Amino acid sequence: MPVAPAGTALAGGTDGPRALRPLLDTVLDALTTGAQDRSGPLPPGGPDAVARAVRDACLPLLPEEGTGPHTALRTLVHTLTAGAADPADPHCAAHLHCPPLALAAAADLAASALNPSMDSWDQAPAASELETLTARTLAALVYPEATAPDALVTTGGTESNQLALLLAREAHRTAGPLRIVCGANAHHSIHRAAWLLGLPEPLTLPTPDGTLDPATVHTCLTELTGRSSAVLLTATAGTTDAGAIDPLPALADLADQHGARLHIDASYGGPLLFSTTHRTTLTGLARAHTVTLDLHKLGWQPVAAGLLAVPGPATLTPLAHQADYLNPDDDTEAGLPDLLGRSLRTTRRPDILKIAVTLKALGRQGLGDLVDRTLTAARTLADLIDAHPRYELHSRPTLTTVLFRPTGADDTTLATIRRTLLTEGHAVLGRATTPTGLWLKATLLNPHTQPGDLTTLLKLVEGHTPR
Ligand SMILES: Cc1ncc(COP(=O)(O)O)c(C=O)c1O
Repeated sequence: MPVAPAGTALAGGTDGPRALRPLLDTVLDALTTGAQDRSGPLPPGGPDAVARAVRDACLPLLPEEGTGPHTALRTLVHTLTAGAADPADPHCAAHLHCPPLALAAAADLAASALNPSMDSWDQAPAASELETLTARTLAALVYPEATAPDALVTTGGTESNQLALLLAREAHRTAGPLRIVCGANAHHSIHRAAWLLGLPEPLTLPTPDGTLDPATVHTCLTELTGRSSAVLLTATAGTTDAGAIDPLPALADLADQHGARLHIDASYGGPLLFSTTHRTTLTGLARAHTVTLDLHKLGWQPVAAGLLAVPGPATLTPLAHQADYLNPDDDTEAGLPDLLGRSLRTTRRPDILKIAVTLKALGRQGLGDLVDRTLTAARTLADLIDAHPRYELHSRPTLTTVLFRPTGADDTTLATIRRTLLTEGHAVLGRATTPTGLWLKATLLNPHTQPGDLTTLLKLVEGHTPR
């Protein structure tokens, strides 16, 4: 047998780890030197400078003769790191883009090395059982009273919301076209999912205060349920722009009263369930027919780590599907678990491994502590802004999003401050438009952020504010 060419060793089997170890040394070195070269939350210079650096370092990307694994890994990982927006930097706080835990990233390496595919048991024997157990564990946090809660693993909030709308459409198939009611604060994926599923455009209720108003929902449901028996009310527990939570118990009451189905998008706020201090903020969540969770937001997982929790298996029956090469009836009858009905995808990464490792390593209390720390950081930032004579605070944070602006700054000034901080590589802040105009948005997801980091962030903004 001829010797295998360099760089073609496999990651699995008993020899895999031996092949991986020196490659990992190279990767870890490149992660270190890349972060040192960047020395901030993102690279300076804006898109042109970053694109030039990537082209200079990485082209040609399909050389006639390869560079070998170490050079390729060193070059590309270094370049990607030096040019990254790194959510581990406390000044990288624009989006629901979390810094992953090292232990979750380490688990993800094992997932890549083993490469189970979650579409049939014969490709993922232990991984499928781990997925079942972990999904049920997380679903039980959402639905503590349910006898058989379950959860689907998804690529994130978008896919979970799509599945929730699909399951609602199928459950009401005989009752006419499903009408969706959501707030103007709902994530855009609700609208896209309706479009994708061929449903009428959702009725979007105004949310001038950032959350759905029960009286407005009542009026809307009264009118709608008089005409159609297929209505889905979607609420949000952690809005994208402000981290606000809709009044879940009142909305659940209204859904009950009007015979509407209820979906809650808790992509952002869901992990408050881990926190002894904050979990009551989510009271009412368990009354939803479906709940979106997303642990690549406030759950410190590498992308992807989405879930759709349901109170029982009956909710998932519309997803049942058969493909003879994956789940033939005789295999299922012989006891091979049928995985195909757990996703619309076929080949699927074992994203559950990193989640399971995190749950086991930190426990409910450890994760709750990370949630508490992050919420405390947001409150500290709000306090600093409140106490500062040159800043205006939009509102006290419910989760970890803080909207603020230099007092009197107009929209153009704010947009310019944000872009200048980005192109200088000093800070990554988001923006949010509310009825009171544009605001700078700090979405804090780093549980290790210190008050000093927040003071520096405010000084950076102040330094770019015209007097
Ligand atoms: C409330 C909410 N729902 C859904 C999503 C979509 O999640 P993903 O980007 O993981 O698909 C987001 C993303 O920020 C969100 O804020």
